[in-house]
Amino acid sequence: MIRKKVNIGLVGATGLVGQCILRVLAERRFPAGNIKLWASARSAGKKVQYGRKVCRVNEIDPDEFPGCDLIFFAGTEGEKGASRIFSEAAIRAGAVVIDNGSDYRMDQGVPLVVPEVNPGDAFKHKGLIANPNCSTIQMAVALNLIHRKLGLKRIVVSTYQAVSGAGRQGTQTLESEIKDQSFGKAQGKKTRTKKIIFPRQIAQNVIPQISDFSELGFSGEEWKMVKETQKIFHDKKLAVNATTVRVPVDTGHSESVYFETREKAGLGVVEKLLAKSPGVVFSKNSYHTPLEIAGKDEVFVSRLRPDPFDPQAFVMWVAADNLRKGAATNAVQIAELLLK
Ligand SMILES: NC(=O)c1ccc[n+]([C@@H]2O[C@H](COP(=O)([O-])OP(=O)(O)OC[C@H]3O[C@@H](n4cnc5c(N)ncnc54)[C@H](OP(=O)(O)O)[C@@H]3O)[C@@H](O)[C@H]2O)c1
Repeated sequence: MIRKKVNIGLVGATGLVGQCILRVLAERRFPAGNIKLWASARSAGKKVQYGRKVCRVNEIDPDEFPGCDLIFFAGTEGEKGASRIFSEAAIRAGAVVIDNGSDYRMDQGVPLVVPEVNPGDAFKHKGLIANPNCSTIQMAVALNLIHRKLGLKRIVVSTYQAVSGAGRQGTQTLESEIKDQSFGKAQGKKTRTKKIIFPRQIAQNVIPQISDFSELGFSGEEWKMVKETQKIFHDKKLAVNATTVRVPVDTGHSESVYFETREKAGLGVVEKLLAKSPGVVFSKNSYHTPLEIAGKDEVFVSRLRPDPFDPQAFVMWVAADNLRKGAATNAVQIAELLLK
C-alpha cells in the first residue's frame, strides 16, 4: 500500500479504542484521505471528533467498505469482535484489516504484530493483521531487546489491569460502583449498569479473574499472554506463566514481570538493553504508576532488580496505557509500517 493518502474505515468509532484510534491518527498526522466511521445501530447518526473535523458515524454496512484501503476493527459484537462477522467482506472489498479483537490472533497466516518487536511479520498478511492483547503488547515491548540479545527462558508475569480494558462498560461499572459507595449503598455485587462486566465488585477490590477459566485453571486472558508472546517472539518453547488481575484503576495496565535469561548477564547489561529498547522509557531510580503514564504512548519500565537466588533472573515493573500502546497506538503504528 504505497500511496500518498490512505482511505480509512473504522469499525467501533464510538468505543474507547475507536475514539483513541481517531485521536492517535490525528496526532501522528497519518496521511488519511476519506474516512468512514461505523458502530452499531445504536450510534447511527452520532457525531465524533477526528482532529478538527466532526464526522458522522453510520451503522456498520459492508456495502460501504469498497473504497477503503485500510479498515481498523475496534468493534465488539457480543463476546466476539465485530471482525468475526465483517472482516471477510472488508478484505473482499480490497481493504487491509487491522483487528483489535482476539478472534484471529492465533490463526496461522494472520500476523500478530508489535512494530518494535516483529515489524517484518506485518508484510506477510493475507488481508488481516491482528493487534495483540494489551497486556501482551507492553510486556513484549519491554522484553524485546532482552529476548533478542540474551534469550529468554521463562517469564512469570502478574498483571494489574485497568477497567477500561473491558471497554466503555468497564469504566462505567467502576464509576457507578464508586458513586453507590459514596452514597452509602455499597452492596458488593450490584451495579447500575445492566450487564455484569466484572465477576465481583471492582470498586475497593482486586479481582484475580479476567475472562473465563479454562485449561489447568488459567483464565482466557492468561492463556492469551502465553500464546501471543510465543507467537510474537517466534519462540514456541518460551515458558510464560501469567496471573491476570483486574484492579480499580480507570486507565493504564501495570505488570510485575519476572524473567530468566538463557545467557548470563549482570544487572548493568540488562539496564543498558532496557535503556535503548525502542518504545521503552526506563527509569533506574524512580517508578511509574498508571495515573502518571495514562495518555502516553511509551512502555514504562522501572524497579529492575536481580533475583537474589538466581544469577540469570530479574524482575521489573512495566506500565503502559492500555488504550494507547495496548491498542490504538500499536494499531496505527502497524498502519504506518504498511505505508513504508
Ligand atoms: N479497551 C482496551 O484496553 C482494549 C485493548 C486491546 C484490545 N481491545 C479490543 O478492542 C475492541 C474494542 O474495545 P473497546 O474497549 O473500545 O470496547 P467498547 O468501548 O465497548 O466499544 C465497542 C465498540 O463496538 C461497537 N459495536 C458494538 N456492537 C457492534 C456491531 N454489531 N457492529 C459494529 N460495531 C459494534 C460499539 O458501538 P456502539 O457505541 O454503537 O455500541 C463501540 O463503538 C474489542 O475487540 C477489545 O477486545 C480493547
